[in-house]
Amino acid sequence: MKTIHLPEPVITGGRPLMEVLSSRVTARNFSERPLELQTLSNLLWAAWGYNRERKRTAPSSHNRQEMELYLCFRDGVYLWNAVQNVLVMADERDMRAATGMQDFVGKAPLEIIFVAETSRITGKDERGVVETIFADTGFISENMYLYCASEGLITVVRAMVDRPALSAALDLRPDQMITLVQTVGYPESSTK
Ligand SMILES: Cc1cc2nc3c(=O)[nH]c(=O)nc-3n(C[C@H](O)[C@H](O)[C@H](O)COP(=O)(O)O)c2cc1C
Repeated sequence: MKTIHLPEPVITGGRPLMEVLSSRVTARNFSERPLELQTLSNLLWAAWGYNRERKRTAPSSHNRQEMELYLCFRDGVYLWNAVQNVLVMADERDMRAATGMQDFVGKAPLEIIFVAETSRITGKDERGVVETIFADTGFISENMYLYCASEGLITVVRAMVDRPALSAALDLRPDQMITLVQTVGYPESSTK
């Protein structure tokens, strides 16, 4: 199975928090410029990396950590293993376009699919599970928004996704539920 070892995330620096909050925004004018591996590693750590023993940069209900991130690039879909900071190929197809219906979807270099492993959530009725996984997704998503605002990337979180079709295309199990998708990339004006 193809794996990509990401460089150690750089977890110092960035712009001051209040400035980052001032510029936090949704944008959709993506360029096709790919993300460098270092940027990707930093983004993932900011989003949902480990910042303490068994605890992460985003909270999760009862620390269940049920959210997994599937990353869709031109060269395939990868599951991020946060413990080892490696990307493990899950599908060798370019699935970016299948993650939404808007015109930037498929053009932007990265689509991140939030997938909840609902089997990790025990002792709740179905409604409680859905509330939990969407809340937990929101924290991770906002972390990505803030990292993007700090680093000159742009992003949009999206509910407009055909979940049954995407689940089928990714061959997800019934207990794996897609919550949202988030597009990340550089703005159109960006060069390099
Ligand atoms: C739960 C959720 C779902 C969203 N779904 C979409 C979407 O499917 N497509 C899209 O272009 N924007 C989507 N957005 C982005 C919102 O349109 C955007 O956050 C809103 O217009 C406010 O703009 P701002 O993020 O720049 O403050 C979504 C945002 C949230 C929080």
